[in-house]
Amino acid sequence: MSFDKETIRDIDVKGKRVLVRVDYNLPLDEQGRITDDYRIKKSLPTLQYLLKNGASLILCSHLGRPNGKKDMNFSLKPAAARLQKLIGQDVIFAPDCIGEATTKLATELKPGEILLLENLRFYPEEESNNADFAKQLASLAEVFVQDGFGVVHRSHASTDAITRYLPSVAGLLLENEVDTITNVMENPARPLMAIIGGAKITDKLPILKRLIDVADIVAIGGAMANTFLLADGVDIGKSKADEEDVPVAKMIIERARAKSKKQPFTLYLPQDGVVATSLDKTAETRIVDWDDHVFATIESYPKQPSRRSAQVLKNEMILDIGPFSGAFIAGSMQLASTVIWNGTMGVTETSAIIGPVGPF
Ligand code: 3PG
Repeated sequence: MSFDKETIRDIDVKGKRVLVRVDYNLPLDEQGRITDDYRIKKSLPTLQYLLKNGASLILCSHLGRPNGKKDMNFSLKPAAARLQKLIGQDVIFAPDCIGEATTKLATELKPGEILLLENLRFYPEEESNNADFAKQLASLAEVFVQDGFGVVHRSHASTDAITRYLPSVAGLLLENEVDTITNVMENPARPLMAIIGGAKITDKLPILKRLIDVADIVAIGGAMANTFLLADGVDIGKSKADEEDVPVAKMIIERARAKSKKQPFTLYLPQDGVVATSLDKTAETRIVDWDDHVFATIESYPKQPSRRSAQVLKNEMILDIGPFSGAFIAGSMQLASTVIWNGTMGVTETSAIIGPVGPF
C-alpha cells in the first residue's frame, strides 16, 4: 500500500506562505550544542521542494519537554543556525512562535525565504491542542505542511488542531517514512528483526505488541529494557523505568514466550549492562552481567566473582547495554534481512570519556 494522503506535490505553493511542521526535537549536549542534526537533514528535501516551487517557509517545531514554560535550554535558536548551514541560505529566527512580532516577520517574508519559529512547547496550549493557539499559528500562513514524522502521533495544536484552520498536506519525509514502515510491516523480507530502545516506554508499548506479532526477533534496549527487566525479576537499582507499565511488560513477555513455543521467535532482553551511580560523564562505570555471569567469571579469573559483579546495586542505574548484549544484537542484525530500529540502546546525550571500564 502506498501513501494515500495529499502531499506537497498535489498543491500549488507559488507565492504562498507555507507553515511546515518539522520535528527538530534534536539531542543537545550539556552546553546546549546540537549533537546530531539528522532530523534537520531529513527535512531538507521538503523544504527545498517548496522553495523551488516559489513558497516562503515558516517552520515550526518543538524541542524537548519544557512543560509549557519559556525555558531557554530548549530554544530552537541553535537549530536555525544549523539549518542555515545545511540548506546554504539565511534562516531568520523568530524568538516567539506567535504574537505581533512573529506575524510581522511572517508577513514580510518573500518567496524563497525561511523563518524558523521558537519552540512551540513554550506555550502549554501546544500540547493541550488549543484551538486559539492553533488559529494564531495558522494566521501566519496560507498552507500547512505536516512533515514532523516523529511527532505525528501527538494530538497537539501544531499536529492536529492546525489542520482545521489551513489547507493541509503531507511533506516528503512523512510520505517516505509512512510508505517505508507500511511496506516493512505488510511485506517484510524475513527474518525481520525489530530493535526497540530509547526512554519513552509508555508511548512504545502498542507498537511493541504489534512487532511481537509481526517480527521474527525483537530486541529491547535502552531505558525501555529496564521496565522489562523489572518485570522479569532483575534488580535494576535506581535505573529509569516505568513501574506502572510493569504489568503490560509482563504481558508482552508472556505473549512473546507463547509465540516462541509455536514458531521460531526470540524476544531478547539485555543480559548485561553498563551501570554507574550518576549520569555525569566522569562517573565510574562498570559492567554488570545479571544473566549468565560469564563476564564476571572471566574478569575475576581465577577467583570467584563477587555477588556485586552480577547485580545492579541500589544506588546504580543501567545506562547502556553490555558487551554480550551488544554482540547478540549485532550478530542477529547480520542474520536478519530487515531491521526496524527505534531508539538508542543507552544514554547518548552524555559524551564518553574513553578509558578502562571497571573495577568489578
Ligand atoms: C520524538 O523525539 O520522539 C518526537 O519529537 C516526539 O517528542 P515527544 O515524545 O516529546 O512528544
